[in-house]
Amino acid sequence: MVVNSGKMTVIAIDGPAGAGKSTAAKQLAGVLHITYVNTGSLYRAVALAAHRAGIEPENVTRDFLDTLHLEYGNGKLLLNGEDPGEALRTPEIAQGASRVSALPTVREYLLPVQRNAALKEWIVMEGRDIGTVIFPDAQCKFFITASIEERARRRLAQSGEIASGATLESVIEEIRLRDERDSTRAAAPLKQADDAVFIDTTGKSISDVNAELISFLPEELQKRCK
Ligand code: DC
Repeated sequence: MVVNSGKMTVIAIDGPAGAGKSTAAKQLAGVLHITYVNTGSLYRAVALAAHRAGIEPENVTRDFLDTLHLEYGNGKLLLNGEDPGEALRTPEIAQGASRVSALPTVREYLLPVQRNAALKEWIVMEGRDIGTVIFPDAQCKFFITASIEERARRRLAQSGEIASGATLESVIEEIRLRDERDSTRAAAPLKQADDAVFIDTTGKSISDVNAELISFLPEELQKRCK
């Protein structure tokens, strides 16, 4: 990977739902002993807050957002001072997050929350637009994906975010819907940055994926893994 010292000390990991981004990003942050930021949880927190207030995702306004207190520090997300935990991981909140994420006002609101997470130290930040919009100057960028069948199988195996009675077909359909919404929205759609390394995790183990990611990191970071 080409390293430009004027760039941000950020490892940006983007890709669609269920591609294995979170697992890879978390492990990478673990071996490098650096902070991991999952930006999807910020969109999920907005969706959860709207849901609790009885507001449809599409009707979230800046005034509503300004009533929230959302922060991401030390790898932990707090919504109005509380860790929302598993409440963020339901199928309804996953779709709600995808819906609020199409609103430019939500993206504008979350931009400084994400940028403030990157200080002088290296961080791993995972999402949809980290390499394209949040940190176009990130030193390391990856775009991780996998076949839709494999992504659905992994979701089923995780079970947390799956509605009861879900089948492989219904999960494929749910992922297809989310992919379409995330990649066709006008505001910061999901797409690979021109300078991102593309990794297809289909059929690969977590340790294979991690070794592949590490092989593209600058030497300064690779040394930390030994
Ligand atoms: O990564 P996730 O499944 O937790 O993300 C939930 C939704 O949030 C996803 O469908 C799209 C949106 N999202 C986004 O638009 N930009 C990001 N950087 C991260 C997530």
